[in-house]
Amino acid sequence: MSQPQSRRDTEQIKLCGSVSLWQNRTVKIDSQKLIAAAARAREGSVSPYSKFKVGAALLTKSGEIIGGANVESASYGLTCCAERVALFKALTDGRKHFVAVAVVARCDGGPMPCGACRQLLAEYAPDAKVFVADSDDLKTIRVFTVRRLLPAAFVLVP
Ligand code: THU
Repeated sequence: MSQPQSRRDTEQIKLCGSVSLWQNRTVKIDSQKLIAAAARAREGSVSPYSKFKVGAALLTKSGEIIGGANVESASYGLTCCAERVALFKALTDGRKHFVAVAVVARCDGGPMPCGACRQLLAEYAPDAKVFVADSDDLKTIRVFTVRRLLPAAFVLVP
């Protein structure tokens, strides 16, 4: 299958390690470790309908990793994606400053976050890098940024 994004939009990295700037502080990101955490979180997927297991892991600026997996409902629209489960877990545990998120599923090139997840990430993790990988090839990691995935995100101006 061809890659869903053009080469110009993605950067393939095979090496461990990436650096991100978070509020003028340089934060080291171990993309392989974060992808591995997303792969572990994926084991918790509750996906009896689609059988499509997705895992996500968020990295905070202090180095904490919070994982989540997709949870499906018989009323399909109530399904919650892995990225949002991880984000809701992290936020409700008081975590705020996210530098990266990793997403893993059995899909060529790795799964791209859906539009709803992009919106939530744009709101709560605007500066984060996004790593995606195929669960059958965790060493090939594609990297994006939340800003690139959702330019001009919705903002509420009361
Ligand atoms: N899914 C995610 O977990 N993340 C996404 O970004 C897109 C889709 C899940 C939802 C559903 O359980 C399954 O993948 C099939 O759509």
